[in-house]
Amino acid sequence: MKTILERTDDGSHTLFVPELNEHYHSVNGAVQESRHVYIEAGLRACDKPVLRILEVGFGTGLNALLSYLEALDSRKNIYYSSIELFPISLQLVNSLNYPSLFSSDQKNVFKDLHLCAWNQQVDVSDFFHLKKIQANVLEHDLSGEELFDAVFYDAFAPGKQPEMWEQPIFAKLFDVLSPGGVFVTYCAKGVVRRMLQNSGFVVERLAGPPGKREMLRARKPAEQ
Ligand SMILES: C[S@@+](CC[C@H](N)C(=O)[O-])C[C@H]1O[C@@H](n2cnc3c(N)ncnc32)[C@H](O)[C@@H]1O
Repeated sequence: MKTILERTDDGSHTLFVPELNEHYHSVNGAVQESRHVYIEAGLRACDKPVLRILEVGFGTGLNALLSYLEALDSRKNIYYSSIELFPISLQLVNSLNYPSLFSSDQKNVFKDLHLCAWNQQVDVSDFFHLKKIQANVLEHDLSGEELFDAVFYDAFAPGKQPEMWEQPIFAKLFDVLSPGGVFVTYCAKGVVRRMLQNSGFVVERLAGPPGKREMLRARKPAEQ
């Protein structure tokens, strides 16, 4: 996939995909959006010292980086799995400005996340363990994985990649979440909310990041 580097309104980079006419993040602020949707509404909604997270769409690795930094600050131990069908090149990774936006002693972490081998768990530190899976989430068998506490659903928008927003994927992700686990996405469409409900989730509409009215957080009921 051809991508073009762009700067968003909070100064952080994103990638634009001409073929889809779609950005990887909100143009109002990539870091701002990732932090709001995935860290504040997702990761922090999981009240456990050891967390298992599944991300759909590793992409630039921004959500993984923010999760690493959150684990460092909150002293959580995170097992982070992320599925990506089209990994970006190391050349592109090197041009993203995320490391310059965070404290100097963590500058190498962003590149380390990208250098981790695919399809195996790598201990990035003693509190952050990364498993990048190169696969199509719609086809990949997740049933062998230990249950997750959170799913970060960061696919391209429904209008651009409709196959990623159909009932079967939400049912599949419901099955890999532990009871009480959360699913978060930047998308707030009614049709997506209803598909999540049909899969068994209890869904909340939360305030979205700047520039976006709402986002969705869905919880798997604690007792199944
Ligand atoms: C909106 S971008 C977000 C990526 C990432 N979370 C980030 O912060 O950069 C969506 C990502 O999903 C990936 N993707 C698209 N279709 C996929 C599929 N069927 N399975 C897994 N990943 C997919 C794309 O390559 C892209 O990296």
